[in-house]
This record gives sequence, C-alpha cells and structure tokens, in this order.
Amino acid sequence: MTGSSQQRAAAAFVVFAALGAVALWILTGPHPLDGAALPAHTPDLADGEVLFHTGSCGSCHKAADGAPGTDEGLPTGSAAFPTPVGTFYPGNLTPDPETGIGRWSEVDFVNAVTQGVSPDGTHYFPAFPYPSLRLMALEDVLDLHAYLASLPAARSPHREAEVPMTPLARRGVGLWKRLEVVVSEDGRVPLVVRYYDRKDRLARTLYYSDVKNFDGHIIPSKLALIPEDKKGHKTELVYEAIDFDVPVPDRTFSLSNLERKK
Ligand code: HEC
Repeated sequence: MTGSSQQRAAAAFVVFAALGAVALWILTGPHPLDGAALPAHTPDLADGEVLFHTGSCGSCHKAADGAPGTDEGLPTGSAAFPTPVGTFYPGNLTPDPETGIGRWSEVDFVNAVTQGVSPDGTHYFPAFPYPSLRLMALEDVLDLHAYLASLPAARSPHREAEVPMTPLARRGVGLWKRLEVVVSEDGRVPLVVRYYDRKDRLARTLYYSDVKNFDGHIIPSKLALIPEDKKGHKTELVYEAIDFDVPVPDRTFSLSNLERKK
C-alpha cells in the first residue's frame, strides 16, 4: 500500500467510525412522549394508592433507617438498592420540590414510568422496572402521580447510581429497549416478544402459550425463552396457579393502550 492510499484508508476508517458513533448515538436516543399524548383525566387518588402498592414502588423507593420519612414509611428512596451490576439509589418520590418530584410535570412522570426516560432526557437503568410498566393506562399513571403528590414532602437528596461508566452505561440502555411484541387480536394476550441485540440481530424470542383462566384473568400459563446463540436450549416457565389479591382495573390492559405503544 502506498503512503497516500494508507492515509485514505485511515481517513475512511475515521469517517466510518464517526458515522458508526453517530448511528449508535441516534439508535440509543430517548423517545419521550409529549404533553399532547396525555388524556384529559381527573385523577383518582384511591386508584393511585392501589397502583403504588401493586407496583411495589415503596419497597424499592423506601427511606433508609433514620432518614427523614422513615417513620411515616415515605418513598424517599434514600435506601440503597444493591444489585450484581452496581448499587442504585431509587429516587425520592415525595413531592419535595428540591430533592423529590414536586416540580415534575405530569408528562415528566409519565415518561419516567412508561418510557424509562428522565425529565432531562437520559435513560433510567432497568433496575427501575419500567419495561414492565410500559403498558399501563396513562390514566393510571396520572392517578399514581396524583397519589404521590398527595404525600407529605420529605427532603432526601438524589444520589447517582454506582455503576461502572455511568453516563455511557445510561446511554447504552437505549439499545436494550429494542423489542417487538406480538399480541392476540383482541390485544389482551401477549404471544411473542422478540429481543434484538446491539447490531439489530434477533437475540432471544419469548413465546407465550397455553392460555388459561387464572382467577378470572386470561393469561398464558407457559413462557418459553429461546436464545439464538445456543441452539437447542430453552428456558421454560409454567404457571400452575395465580391468586390476585389486589384489583387491577380492566382498562390497564386495554387494546387502545397496547396500540399506543411503539
Ligand atoms: C425493583 C425496584 C424498583 C421498583 C419496584 C420501583 N422502582 Fe422506581 N426506581 C428504581 C431505581 C433503581 C431507580 C433509579 C434508576 C436509575 O438510577 O437509573 C428508580 C427511579 C424511579 C423514578 C425516577 C426518579 C428520579 O428522581 O429521577 C421514578 C419516578 C420511579 N422510579 C417511580 C417508580 C414507581 C411509580 C414505581 C411503582 C410503580 C417504582 N418506581 C417501582 C427502582 C424501583
């Protein structure tokens, strides 16, 4: 290779790497909803309280021993949440304007809970189980917000998660949000979920089958996760019995709700 063709190859590589970085940046970008997506709704505090307990919000966002709000059991989020990838600090959900969510708009809250995107446009780590909250009816998310806003405000400063390379790791979370969900025609039963890897190749497929009626709820009783990289392997989960002890309103899983999501 001559000097100039080597230089050209190097230049091409730099351009290519830069384009790759731009593509990756776009691919990992947040996709928040805007305020116009919110329904007109009069919040129902009692529904919000039920959802707060159903979603176990308080079990992760609890106050550390002795921190403000401990006695009242407020969700100040000062207790550490350790996981194998690092320690998370779940955030103060009381309406304190400085350290809690007192200044958040409704759409800020909806984006955090259903899209995993913060008011300043960064991704939350899925240690916050927003992937499971995606399909909540927006009315319910607004009820939850109103319930939290009705709690006493407690001061508890935010602490950043202790995860290696946090800002980059946060952006990288965007890649794992690429999944495809196939639901039954009435929109009530999930059939297949396809998970894609960072090169947009199919990585795992989750098949739902053996739909049964558990306690009045129509639910697939068998889940089979098939990885693409280990042919012949699969992980199966079979529900034998499910008891529901908290009422979940029907509209939580409505068809319009499923259609609303990308
Ligand atoms: C399994 C633990 C867990 C549960 C359950 C949980 N969260 Fe969280 N939540 C977290 C973690 C961890 C974070 C911080 C994630 C991060 O740092 O990226 C978080 C962050 C948040 C934030 C952003 C806070 C901020 O200050 O930016 C909101 C809002 C939130 N959660 C609301 C809820 C609600 C509402 C529920 C119940 C429906 C809930 N969470 C249930 C662990 C949890």
